[in-house]
Amino acid sequence: MSALDLLQGPFLGVGLGIDVHSESPDFRALLQKNGRGPKRVFDFLEVYTRGEPGLAKQVREAARGLPLIYHHEGLDPVYPRAPRPEAVKAAAENLRALQAPWCVEELAYRRLDGRYLDFFMPALLTEESIRTAVANIRALNEVLSAPVIPENPPYQLPVGDLHIVDFMALVSELAQVPLVIDLGHLYSFQICRGLEPLHRLDKLPLDRVIELHVAGSEVLNRDGIQIYEDVHGAGEIPQVALDMLADVAPRCENLRAVTIEVEDATVEGALAQAAQVKRVVDRARAGGVATGRLRGSRGARVGKK
Ligand SMILES: [Fe+2]
Repeated sequence: MSALDLLQGPFLGVGLGIDVHSESPDFRALLQKNGRGPKRVFDFLEVYTRGEPGLAKQVREAARGLPLIYHHEGLDPVYPRAPRPEAVKAAAENLRALQAPWCVEELAYRRLDGRYLDFFMPALLTEESIRTAVANIRALNEVLSAPVIPENPPYQLPVGDLHIVDFMALVSELAQVPLVIDLGHLYSFQICRGLEPLHRLDKLPLDRVIELHVAGSEVLNRDGIQIYEDVHGAGEIPQVALDMLADVAPRCENLRAVTIEVEDATVEGALAQAAQVKRVVDRARAGGVATGRLRGSRGARVGKK
């Protein structure tokens, strides 16, 4: 199966992105309060975990059939070397433990010359960096049980001439993969360049967007310079991100998931954000689902024979 085949699957709905190593929100409490069936608040979990797959197995068990997506953070796909064998092994084990259909990985790196920096370095916006990302993603997708799908990283000081939209479009084209677009991260890039939130979106192959992300964030003002900061569940999702979501979600005809990254939220806060985003997504997609242009959650194009 090619990674692009994933674009043909059903719309999973609105889910929560959690870090299982973080105390808050606790995944068991979230799952317990979510309820089951059509009345549930969130439709899937996107699970960030690392190292041994023990926690991933526990989430799988507690989820009782709720879909799980995997979010990895250590494959460093834009670092100009092959991904570390131990990171690839951990990704493979966690993917299997979660039975996830895909693995989200930001186009960033955290290691330099083998040293972990605990600092997130987004892709340099150059053609060379695209070639690196494509080679690494292709190599990963040959060995993993489910494809790595790149996500646009957050920017505070972009280096390189390309616009992030063109960068993502080229990676998708050359590596033959769908895309995860984090709308907050896209906004972070646009404010660095003084551009409108959805500037150049027409250059993105929206039919390749499999997943959208939103999260709590703050825009700081440093001596007159605006800097975007992801705070995930510790803050509100800004109205600009919700407006971007309402605009973009119905235009992505193969969209399969909308994820709210809620690390550090309380359980109640995470559930409230899920309900908030669900209202936006349902309203935005309603017309497209009714006419059959967008797939509903059962995979069928409603209204089409
Ligand atoms: Fe994200």
